[in-house]
Amino acid sequence: MQLLLIASEVFPFSRTGGLADVMAALPESLVRLGVDVTVLSPWWQSLHGQPTEVWRGSVPHGGRLQPGAVRVGEVRAAGVRYLFLGTPDFERPGLYAEDDVERFLRWGNLVLPTLQSMGLTFDLVHGHDWAAGTVVAHARAAGLRSVYTIHNLQYQGRWNFAEGAAWSGLPAAMLPDAEFYGDLNLMKAGLVFSDHVTTVSPTYAREITTREYGEGLEGVLQARDAAGALTGILNGLDLDRWNPAADPDVLPMTARSGKPANVAALRAEFLLDDAPILSAVSRLVSQKGLDLLVEALPDVTRDWNVVVLGSGDPLLEAALKGWAQHPRVRYVSGMNEALAHRLYAGSDAFCMPSRFEPCGLSQMISMRYGTLPVVRETGGLVDSVPSDVGFRFSGGGAGDLSAALHAARLAWDDRPGWQARVARGMALDFSWEASARRYVDVYRQVLGA
Ligand code: GLC
Repeated sequence: MQLLLIASEVFPFSRTGGLADVMAALPESLVRLGVDVTVLSPWWQSLHGQPTEVWRGSVPHGGRLQPGAVRVGEVRAAGVRYLFLGTPDFERPGLYAEDDVERFLRWGNLVLPTLQSMGLTFDLVHGHDWAAGTVVAHARAAGLRSVYTIHNLQYQGRWNFAEGAAWSGLPAAMLPDAEFYGDLNLMKAGLVFSDHVTTVSPTYAREITTREYGEGLEGVLQARDAAGALTGILNGLDLDRWNPAADPDVLPMTARSGKPANVAALRAEFLLDDAPILSAVSRLVSQKGLDLLVEALPDVTRDWNVVVLGSGDPLLEAALKGWAQHPRVRYVSGMNEALAHRLYAGSDAFCMPSRFEPCGLSQMISMRYGTLPVVRETGGLVDSVPSDVGFRFSGGGAGDLSAALHAARLAWDDRPGWQARVARGMALDFSWEASARRYVDVYRQVLGA
């Protein structure tokens, strides 16, 4: 089976979130199951690593013309072919920007014609998130089967309909199905024109068919679900990258030893007192609910030292900077991979009060590093955090989080009970293999093979 995966970011070449991590691990697992995998993403100028240019030219396409040539770079790693498609739109520093929807409409229109010009053919296209939505629609137009995965329904990619239609290059007859409140909606295009829709956890797959979580697309998703074409497949974790026994950024740790040394090191690094350590590593966006943690800090700091790593919402950053004067609160803004590893290894508990969470990876990483997650009962958090390991709460207010954190603190005081939770958490199996098998099942179903 020759599979083409399309996504806007791929670790370690480009990354802003969990999508890139999935694109790093899923392809390799698919290769191990015998699938021939090509991953295609934009040739961002600030890509980490330099692909080898393997093709350059201009391609015939149906959309409004844009100046400049298309170039394609290639990297091969672990049996996966990574292709990077560059256009003049991506010749600037940084990743995402204001005009992304317009850029990806043009980019999406060039993907299949470019691959065709290169002489590459595929059995199946698997698009991820809004940026790949119109590629899936083009696949339909070209008679190619496709799967479309939602990593986050909140980011849909909407653009003025008339202009979007012109940039998209899609056949006029298809466009009305991708219309959404007067706009062209790229995610909707992916949802309606793919042969099967998946999302990254079974619970989120159910949630998005409701008004509360459906982001206005619940009707479309209900229809796909009714047709048996909506499946939730829980993401795995890259067990080589997240291996506490051999992680160069932390002191070696197994279920039996090493945890206390990592906690002591973190306590020393941040000059914290003897109370247990609660950490959060996250983009500071409303989805992640860390405003609830800030609101709950007057209560929470009675039980916990709190360390937050991440950046985003300026108001939340300012509030955390203010709180960092408190002897039990530390805030590090930005993203620092090595510190993230030390926080996973050296904390007692991990705070993840997400308002919604398609899958979430941090809660799995923390359990693997002996840190117990305190999570809101939503999406992938329900599917990955057993209640005899972590702490789950269902309400949406700061008081609900406070209560859960207080319960977690009482549990921490019972040392043998806590150790037993840690041991159960570290023994959970989050390998990608099982998830990759489920994707292969979906691919086979779509191909009728
Ligand atoms: C998005 C979601 C997150 C998920 C990730 C990878 O970032 O917000 O929940 O884990 O995609 O699928």
